[in-house]
Amino acid sequence: MSASPTPATSPLPALPHWEQIPDDLPAAIRQVKAAIRNRIAASGRTVEEVFAVVERQVEAEAGEVAAARDRGEEVWPVLDYADIAAGTVPADALALLRRRGCLVVRGHFDRDQALAWDQGIVDYVEGNQFFENYRGPGDDFFGSVGSRPEIYPVYWSQAQMQARQSDRMARVQAFLNGLWQHESQGVRWFDPHRDSLYPDRIRRRPPGADSAGLGAHLDPGTLDLWMTSDYQKAFRHLFDGNPERYDPWDAAYRTAGPQYPGTTMCSVFRTFQGWTALSDMDRDQGVLHTVPIPGAMAYLLLRPLLADVPEDDMCGVTVSQVFPASVKWHEPLLRALSGIPDVRAGDSVWWHCDMIHSVAPVTSQRGWGNVMYIPAAPWCPRNERYAASVRQAFLAGSSPDDFPAEHYEREWPDRFPASDLNMTGRRGLGLS
Ligand SMILES: [Fe+2]
Repeated sequence: MSASPTPATSPLPALPHWEQIPDDLPAAIRQVKAAIRNRIAASGRTVEEVFAVVERQVEAEAGEVAAARDRGEEVWPVLDYADIAAGTVPADALALLRRRGCLVVRGHFDRDQALAWDQGIVDYVEGNQFFENYRGPGDDFFGSVGSRPEIYPVYWSQAQMQARQSDRMARVQAFLNGLWQHESQGVRWFDPHRDSLYPDRIRRRPPGADSAGLGAHLDPGTLDLWMTSDYQKAFRHLFDGNPERYDPWDAAYRTAGPQYPGTTMCSVFRTFQGWTALSDMDRDQGVLHTVPIPGAMAYLLLRPLLADVPEDDMCGVTVSQVFPASVKWHEPLLRALSGIPDVRAGDSVWWHCDMIHSVAPVTSQRGWGNVMYIPAAPWCPRNERYAASVRQAFLAGSSPDDFPAEHYEREWPDRFPASDLNMTGRRGLGLS
């Protein structure tokens, strides 16, 4: 094993850690679970007592969300872009946003602008014979059936880059980043006013489509959440047996460390995952759901330590697959799963990077279901590192490193050129 003790920062026993994927996963799982249990026991409470604290809190929160949802109330906070831009978001709306960890921004972009971007993407891919040349899904996670994909592995259209470098996007990202504590212990963990322009794909799901949706999962990591030194520090209060101090909005130690490689990895730190709607979508048409409880990570990370989980099992989490949230292990959380309200083209949708989410199935979809994925990924050492490869991909028209190496756009003459970058775009790519 490549583990070495964490430097002693507390009197509690150190945790073994693996900065790369361990060669023997079951052995590493057994070892880290035993070490976390010992560490928690040394804090003065048993794992069962500590987990019970988390369970009570999460169950109360989930019960409240489920009750609100079942009464027909809107679970997702909704804010107008105009209030975010003017700094006039009411205090109670801010408090709800912090509590639920997710948000719809109404009118983030003019509807006509969003529809024009959607058409621009159609013109871009059709003009470059994308469908004629499409070689099938490049990965097996978002892979769609049939000859026409729903996820377009397209990164460098005018539409995407215009949105990524727009003032309106920067304002909302800075607002969302501001919900996080980005300075502590004398360290500025990230710059809330500078985004790293994380390039991601497009989804265009046509009318009449059938889709199986996506199961409940989360994206910030897999076994690395328990096993790397930085994540162990980020989740130190949980592994120290002190869940009362755990704050899901504290960015400490989250913005430099590695993530284990794999087909579903995201190299950057995102405060929020997000997308911008390029079509109107009704809430019953196969849309995004979340478990709107940012602190649920405490439950997810401590649950595998209980005695009913096999010693070499982390409640089904392993490398190179998304972190699954399952009825078997996480039922109290999943009761709170709540869908977005109806959205219109130009609205955007955001959720805290730790939160469980899923996409509901749909048959014979009404209308289009079109989005461009644009998260909030503030400038920090981890994102600066990835920005170097993004710069290269941008200049060459390549697929970014986090995605399958499909490279459709390299020869497309009308992709977004470097000469069209504004200052936000240049700073996002680390060019200024
Ligand atoms: Fe996801």
